Amino acid sequence: MASQPQHTDLFYETHILCCCNQRPEGHPRSCCADRGGRNFMESISRRVAEMGLTNVTVTEAGCMERCELGPAMVIYPDAVWYTYENEDDVEEIIESHLKGGQRVERLVLDPDQKLPKPKALDLLDVVVSDVRDETADIKSIVVKAADGGDLPKFEAGAHIDVITATGLRRSYSLASNPGDRSSYLLGVLREPASRGGSVWIHDNVKPGDRLQITRPLNNFPLDDSAPAHILIAGGIGITPILAMARTLNGLDAKYQLHYCTRTPEGTAFRKEVEAIAGDSLTYHHDGGDPSRGIKLDEVLGDAPAGAHVYVCGPKTLIDAVRAAAAEWGEERVHFELFSAAPDQNYINEPFDIYLSRRRMDLTVPADRTILEVVREAGINADSSCEQGLCSTCQVRVISGEIEHRDQILSTQDKARGDTMMICVSRGKAGEKLVLDL
Ligand code: FES
Ligand code: FES
Repeated sequence: MASQPQHTDLFYETHILCCCNQRPEGHPRSCCADRGGRNFMESISRRVAEMGLTNVTVTEAGCMERCELGPAMVIYPDAVWYTYENEDDVEEIIESHLKGGQRVERLVLDPDQKLPKPKALDLLDVVVSDVRDETADIKSIVVKAADGGDLPKFEAGAHIDVITATGLRRSYSLASNPGDRSSYLLGVLREPASRGGSVWIHDNVKPGDRLQITRPLNNFPLDDSAPAHILIAGGIGITPILAMARTLNGLDAKYQLHYCTRTPEGTAFRKEVEAIAGDSLTYHHDGGDPSRGIKLDEVLGDAPAGAHVYVCGPKTLIDAVRAAAAEWGEERVHFELFSAAPDQNYINEPFDIYLSRRRMDLTVPADRTILEVVREAGINADSSCEQGLCSTCQVRVISGEIEHRDQILSTQDKARGDTMMICVSRGKAGEKLVLDL
């Protein structure tokens, strides 16, 4: 392979062809260009140049008839075909194949392959190094990489999923310093009415235990171009807000942190919040009576011009902040829900879907979700919250009108109509959605 050149009479030892074919918008076969093929080709070209791999050339290709598996590339003279879906995949192909001479088996397209391979869940092994009672119903948990190395990097607002011994998968925001990869700090609220994940963690997890977690994913990032930041946390919603305050301290940025709980005793991470936010911190203890809680018109009315507001906590608090900041514009109001919105009395109708990568037609009955129907068809679709809160089940939509029911996508994202959360969102009645699945 590329690192072990044998054909010294060749002009280039290695030739990489990347499909960048562009089909018309909404074409049911989709194309490598719509799946990011051109950007990936540019990344590969840049990295090859940066690494000084002068025996390697990268060329744009038209359709190579592996459209359902794309974006596709082939590396000659090895004749190894790859698919890839993110920059990490690109980097691994460069490091392993081009530099190390080893195929990246998980990304290889087999010669007779017609369908995407089932994706293995990319889990990290961690060991619990500390568990503390923060309040009567909130525990803090610190985990470290089981091999003693660094954990993946993350940015403030990110969450990971913990896989419980009972097979549940639950999301928890990272409260630790994003610059410190030696451990992750989580906060877990015991929720007896939930599906059992937090109760299992409260009753079972202790120092020394091994757990599996997913890599960090961020649906609630800071916009560090804002001139000032108003951070509002309700209860356990302090966890991502804590990571944000740490980041903003590091940037020497202006912020205020408003922390809403019922009582001082029911306030998790108090010492840490006070040490990190200092004079920027204001507590709002309402004793269970929201009318004695945070005065949003004052908090937001006094905000510096151009400030962004970030809120995490119960839906009632998020709704109140969004209403109070309605004039700010959506791009300045950031929120993350930890539990689903109450039933909005949606009416379900059946609709059809077409799975572009499998050339498969399916019908979604009124009493099923797309996720359920796709799984019943034998497709290994990933999910976590199954309530439209986490984006794990997000799928690209090639055509068709979507009825969005998630709590993640912005109004602009929804209006663009090119992506959806298949655990909750649906097609309009009588509609056919063409999905990149
Ligand atoms: S569009 Fe890329 S292989 Fe066909
Ligand atoms: S699984 Fe969380 S949004 Fe669908």
